[in-house]
Amino acid sequence: MKIHQYHFLKPDRITLVSICIILVISVATLSFKYDDKKVSHTSIAEKDSIVSQKAFLQVYKVLMSPRCMNCHPAGDVPLQGDDNHLHPQGVKRGPEGKGLYALKCSNCHQSENTPGLNMPPGVPDWHLPPSNMRLVFQGRSPHDLAMQLKNRKQNGNKSLHDLIEHMNTDLVKWAWEPGDGRSKPPLSYAEFVNQLKIWIDKGAVVPPRGR
Ligand code: HEC
Ligand code: HEC
Repeated sequence: MKIHQYHFLKPDRITLVSICIILVISVATLSFKYDDKKVSHTSIAEKDSIVSQKAFLQVYKVLMSPRCMNCHPAGDVPLQGDDNHLHPQGVKRGPEGKGLYALKCSNCHQSENTPGLNMPPGVPDWHLPPSNMRLVFQGRSPHDLAMQLKNRKQNGNKSLHDLIEHMNTDLVKWAWEPGDGRSKPPLSYAEFVNQLKIWIDKGAVVPPRGR
């Protein structure tokens, strides 16, 4: 009887021990796999975040270039030239961005560039953003400008997709056909739109303050 029991117990113990070993191994393998996934997830997210921010810094260069900034001033007077000096002749934004009283933008700015040095540039409906949605670029850091572009209350109620569409308008495209004597933005139009798309596709990540 004793021998019988002994014989019965022995294989049982072995089975128990092997089950334990198998359990330990599989838990270890599983958690290792899980960890592995977690690690590669964060590194993809980190990579995307870096790519997104880098793309925004390229976009930012264009936004801050004179052709764009001159229509996105901090004050209510448009700017002129590569030195962003105040527009002379007492020109002001006005509620709709089209000028005040008799000094309408369209008095001087035609639907195309007037040829010759220091002549008024033009596209149809040349104007500044309206006074209730001023879309200021001048003086904004990359952090502040990215926040502004993402904020529907400050960007004319546009989604990020609308933002890409907006780049297709005459006012924006004009910067690459700016008329005699004016410099163009630092990126080509196609590269600018491409970088904007990368910024948005990779999460529209806002660069940190102080950069
Ligand atoms: C002649 C003036 C003018 C010029 C030049 C101009 N803009 Fe604008 N921009 C505007 C106006 C006006 C608006 C407001 C929307 C509208 O009325 O089309 C605007 C709106 C915007 C917005 C905000 C839209 C949004 O979705 O948040 C962006 C971004 C923008 N412009 C980028 C640019 C860039 C980039 C350039 C240069 C390549 C540029 N602008 C040149 C007048 C101008
Ligand atoms: C009295 C005529 C006149 C009026 C009115 C006028 N402009 Fe101009 N504007 C000019 C002339 C001329 C230039 C070209 C100056 C130069 O290149 O030296 C110019 C240049 C500009 C530029 C600079 C473009 C650049 O990138 O260098 C902007 C921006 C501008 N005007 C915006 C406006 C807006 C917006 C209005 C209406 C609110 C307006 N202007 C009203 C005559 C006018």
